Amino acid sequence: MSYARITGTGSYLPEKVVTNVDLENLVDTSDRWIQERTGIAERRVVAEHETCGDLAVIAAREALAMADLDPALVDLIIIGTCTPDRVFPSTACMVQNRIGMAPGTVAFDVSAACSGFIFALDIANRFIATGGARRALVIGAETMSRILDWNDRGTCVLFGDGAGAVVLEASDEPGVLSTHLHADGSHEELLYVPWGVGQGYDGLEREGGTIRMRGNEVFKIAVRTLGRIVDETLEANNLTREDIDWLVPHQANIRIIEATARKLELPMERVVQTIREHGNTSAASIPLALDVAIRDGRIRRGDLLLLEAFGGGFTWGSALVRY
Ligand code: UT7
Repeated sequence: MSYARITGTGSYLPEKVVTNVDLENLVDTSDRWIQERTGIAERRVVAEHETCGDLAVIAAREALAMADLDPALVDLIIIGTCTPDRVFPSTACMVQNRIGMAPGTVAFDVSAACSGFIFALDIANRFIATGGARRALVIGAETMSRILDWNDRGTCVLFGDGAGAVVLEASDEPGVLSTHLHADGSHEELLYVPWGVGQGYDGLEREGGTIRMRGNEVFKIAVRTLGRIVDETLEANNLTREDIDWLVPHQANIRIIEATARKLELPMERVVQTIREHGNTSAASIPLALDVAIRDGRIRRGDLLLLEAFGGGFTWGSALVRY
């Protein structure tokens, strides 16, 4: 059994910045409300021609460059996304081809909304641990702006676009130590997109293909659930809170992040926060945050990282990683 070790990270944000003040011109909101209730000041939004796959390609190339790895040697690519370019081919198949991975290598997308990166990481870790792959690209990439109702102040102020990528390589040295995945389909009405291709086009006309969320109810469940997954992760590894060097959380709301940090008794300086500049980039938020903190030198080799996410489904999960 091999460990899956992170040997490279990369990320990409579209150029266009949309500030809270920009949104004041669209809906009945204020910069103050958004900052106080969410911690978000601005977010990035794709240009008309840009797709989820475009963002993923750039993030993947950056991660490969950091790992000093030839894409032809990567044998697995998994992309967590709820905003794929097409119904099929999967965005992962398209990226596999565009970055120069070998034909015949394994490529697929994972649909777990904001938890998509953690789900993809779990699967890649299992491939590597059991010898099914030696070198994997795990990506979270989203164009959330395409599924937002820009007239709904309850959702349009929250989300942003971006992509983050991680290279995992088989190693004798510790890397991913454990992963924990969960889902509960019984709360669909709290967070969902009412349309999907399986429903035909009538559905799109009736309700629109944009995010619907009962934010406050989601908030409470997210805080409770993430508290539980912290305990689950520590217990599974016989660790205590003091052992964690960095919390790298999904960036949905600064108040949710602060609640998880309190649960871990971690000072906020030990929590990677990108929500102010990125907003909620769904499956991309954790690999984006990871890349930022690795590149600016905060996260160092040997540090113990707790990654966690909660999102539509509901889905939630965590990963304990020795960097
Ligand atoms: O990543 C996937 C998982 N998603 C999440 O984890 C999101 C979880 N939820 C949240 O982050 C928060 O619930 C929100 C940021 C969405 C909302 O914050 P809240 O503190 O839960 O506010 P609320 O929904 O209880 O609304 C409070 C008030 C309401 O007005 P009234 O009824 O008190 O008059 C809302 O209509 O704030 C109003 N409101 C706004 N006001 C200004 C809602 N959205 C806005 C807005 N600007 N954008």
